[in-house]
Amino acid sequence: MTVADLSYQAPGTFEETRFEKIHNIVFSNAEQASVNVAREIAALIRQKQAKQQPCVLGLATGSSPIKVYEELVRMHQEEGLSFGNVVSFNLDEYCPMEKNSVHSYHYFMHQHLFDHIDIDPKHIHIPSGTIPQDEIHQYCIDYDLKIKEYGGLDFQLLGIGRTGHIGFNEPGSHFNSGTRIISLDHLTRADAASSFLGIDNVPRRAITMGIGTVKNAGRIVLLAWGGHKAEIVRETIEGPMTSEVPASYLQTHKNTSIVLNEEAAEELTRIKTPWLVGPCIWDDFLISKAVVWLCEHTQKSILKLTDKDYNDHGMSGLLAQEGNSYDLNIRMFNRLQHTITGWPGGKPNADDSSRPERALPKRKKVLIFSPHPDDDVISMGGTLDRLVEQGHEVHIAYQTSGNIAVADHEAMKYVEIIQDLCPDKKGVDSLIKEINSRNKNIEDDLSVRRLKGLIRKREALGASRFLGVPDNNVHFLNLPFYETGTVKKLPIGPEDIDAVSRLIAQVQPHQIYAAGDLADPHGTHKVCLDAVLAALKNLRSRSFMKDCWVWLYRGAWLEWDIHQIDMAVPLSPDQVLKKRKAIFFHQSQKDGVMFQGNDTREFWVRAEERNDETARRYHELGLADYAAMEAFKKYEF
Ligand code: F6R
Repeated sequence: MTVADLSYQAPGTFEETRFEKIHNIVFSNAEQASVNVAREIAALIRQKQAKQQPCVLGLATGSSPIKVYEELVRMHQEEGLSFGNVVSFNLDEYCPMEKNSVHSYHYFMHQHLFDHIDIDPKHIHIPSGTIPQDEIHQYCIDYDLKIKEYGGLDFQLLGIGRTGHIGFNEPGSHFNSGTRIISLDHLTRADAASSFLGIDNVPRRAITMGIGTVKNAGRIVLLAWGGHKAEIVRETIEGPMTSEVPASYLQTHKNTSIVLNEEAAEELTRIKTPWLVGPCIWDDFLISKAVVWLCEHTQKSILKLTDKDYNDHGMSGLLAQEGNSYDLNIRMFNRLQHTITGWPGGKPNADDSSRPERALPKRKKVLIFSPHPDDDVISMGGTLDRLVEQGHEVHIAYQTSGNIAVADHEAMKYVEIIQDLCPDKKGVDSLIKEINSRNKNIEDDLSVRRLKGLIRKREALGASRFLGVPDNNVHFLNLPFYETGTVKKLPIGPEDIDAVSRLIAQVQPHQIYAAGDLADPHGTHKVCLDAVLAALKNLRSRSFMKDCWVWLYRGAWLEWDIHQIDMAVPLSPDQVLKKRKAIFFHQSQKDGVMFQGNDTREFWVRAEERNDETARRYHELGLADYAAMEAFKKYEF
């Protein structure tokens, strides 16, 4: 069974599995899903209009609902959808928080929705972040009463936090809780840290509608996009109802739908291990996925799996198709074995019929795209080293400047060195003044951003020189979509795609490596990949393209699952150390970086643990025991 777009069905009409306790719909992408949700909201508004009734909407903020709001605005502007009868209640607001701060949910809602539609401002309700402490209790009671006065919420839109929160009802929230003040979970604050430029700037408290308030809504739709939500989505839909995962309380609400994109759905049993749910159509990809899972589940290597192992774990259909476990095991073992190569650019003068890369041409032109100036060494430093050592013409393209990830104190260090060296240097004093007087609510001044970008450029050049890549082959694209000075980036534009296209056309590579990190659909990596894919599409008629193969590495956070890997490049213990040194050149990203997230490990530690883990998993499946491995997936276009 594959994930396909299901039509937008109501709860009760979908084919539930015995694992799932909440109706859910999986779309191939967040855009399509959001359009469907916006249509449902629009239909409700119109239905209420026809009856001359108010339509009471519970609204959420965060990245998840943005495209729903965009579509509602479009419907208002192009299709005449009126919000004249809409009364809105927002879920939450940080505390303390001024309305006009760029971080306030008040600001967010006006920026994304209210400023562009005809809602009556008197009908907008957003919890205030400036209520004096001794008045908050009554304020919250009044907020719930106001909702009741309007006859309750007709529709509640929700996102979900990685803690399982809905609204800001963090783990431990009560089933029947009302609107109240809460303290935010550390993980929630860590997730918000990047938009606040550091966790210390994220408020510790918030006012949130309660679980009871939300559950009283006539209809609830929860949105989740991206692989980073997949685990909490599974717990919400399949796990026990528990205060540890507040979203699981929705299991008792009979008119709730969870709307997902493929990445957010990937941990659901029916998608992750469909053989446990029902009959499957077994192709090699699914067989490989199932065999890797079976080995991990039974703690056996591939060649030790028996007929009984397959039969006991929902794979009797597979066994019937393949004949017996002995042949199947050997076939799957060889398939994995053939992904391993110490020659990522192809092995010259060797039979390449079962190798991941072609033997010819012997010396390939290789173009490595790195979204930030350090993703290349973090994710494929060992492979890069091998490609250079094996004589290929290696180019590296740093797609963005990475400037916002340099801390002010780091930038100050460099300006002060310039000041010490050349006290009369023009512009240095004003740079120091800019850094010292920076308002954390506003983006860096252009000159400071330039300085921070240059710091990252020099670090990247240090690393690429260390690995033997000539300076002429290192390209800094500084894609414009990134240059906002804030965490929120512009959408990808023609200039971004053109810059990437020009470079590909200039190098005419046999191999392209790009970051295929789709965990966060709003993240820089995804936009950078979109730019590469759009450029490839533009160039598809060029003759060099028929010899151009694309390999995707995964970003700093995750690794491909074993069954997804098409090429695994082993690293020797010495190469592991060399890769570590290359990562060390990125000094501004060491010792607690600005956008650390919840993973407090340094990048070199994450890289080593991830490469060690891939090697360990291969070994446990019965393959050779390497010190570390970097993994790639072939992109077919
Ligand atoms: C927002 C809210 C939160 C978010 C959740 C997901 O009003 O109450 O529950 O919905 O934190 O945030 P995103 O969508 O940014 O991943």
